[in-house]
Amino acid sequence: MAICSLDLADFMESTVHIPVLPKEVIQFGKPEPGQTWIDGTGGGGGHSKMLLEAIGASGRLLIIDRDPVATERLSAMFSSPAVVQHGSYDQAHQFLRLLDWPPVDGILLDLGLSSDQLADRDRGFSFQTEGELDMRFDTSSGIPAWQWLTHVDEKTLADTIYKYGEERFSRRIARRIVEVRKTDPVKTADQLRELIYRSVPGGRPSKFGKKHGRVDPATRTFQALRIAVNEELDILENALRRLPDCMAIGGLIVIISFHSLEDRIVKHAFRDDPRLEVVTRKPIEASDAETSDNPRSRSAKLRVAKRVIPAPPMPY
Ligand SMILES: C[S@@+](CC[C@H](N)C(=O)[O-])C[C@H]1O[C@@H](n2cnc3c(N)ncnc32)[C@H](O)[C@@H]1O
Repeated sequence: MAICSLDLADFMESTVHIPVLPKEVIQFGKPEPGQTWIDGTGGGGGHSKMLLEAIGASGRLLIIDRDPVATERLSAMFSSPAVVQHGSYDQAHQFLRLLDWPPVDGILLDLGLSSDQLADRDRGFSFQTEGELDMRFDTSSGIPAWQWLTHVDEKTLADTIYKYGEERFSRRIARRIVEVRKTDPVKTADQLRELIYRSVPGGRPSKFGKKHGRVDPATRTFQALRIAVNEELDILENALRRLPDCMAIGGLIVIISFHSLEDRIVKHAFRDDPRLEVVTRKPIEASDAETSDNPRSRSAKLRVAKRVIPAPPMPY
């Protein structure tokens, strides 16, 4: 059976994204032949490929991604028994209804953005590019980050950078953005990066700083704007409310997050939902070998929960 219409060499060429925690996704998700799975964040297709290999021709895999460029590439990569849909993972219940599929045995969410998106110089995700500051996963809806920056009020902007970027110089950065936009919109990634360097103590990172592991000062603001523009945390919370009802009893949900804001939401939702039983008390992290091969895996945290029948309420 051809689970993937590309051979390995073509597959590797079609994406630069290396899936994180690959062994752990299989070890904890336990996909088995004949099972039905959802990969809610298809990305470069690496995890989907592994899931398909495990569930085989008698299984079914729904692959979702919010990025039209990613879904186009995924559609070229995968065919039956995989189905690729453009949309958001918090709409998975609607796709299942559309496909007339029963509740699934497993769900994988590998949150955030892919290396393909980061490498795309026209999307504005990376502060190391000169591209327009778009930052939307779904370029067919919503407004690009640069447009939001033209009218958002200073307090909302500072609060967003503080809350989603955990940036202690959020007020200074917001003040400077508002100052600069009086004459010119902050339209490109390099413009924003330079403006951040001028707003924070220490400014532009020196080679020395980089060598000693200092995080680039632009990192936190870029993360905050991306989370805000894509409403990432609201979508995650909405999905965590809906997804347990898409799962068969005994089914597993595997979520990989990349920063503390996401991980906290996942941890609390798993712990507090009577439809779920926590499988991983502590998050699973990448091995030293993986972090040296794939630096992106350094901040990855994987949590798993199992769908159970909620206990009946206690009688009075
Ligand atoms: C970290 S990458 C996934 C990589 C993938 N697991 C792989 O092995 O290549 C995250 C992907 O999730 C997508 N994404 C982000 N938010 C989403 C959402 N709400 N619904 C569906 N996809 C989303 C992004 O467009 C990106 O392609």
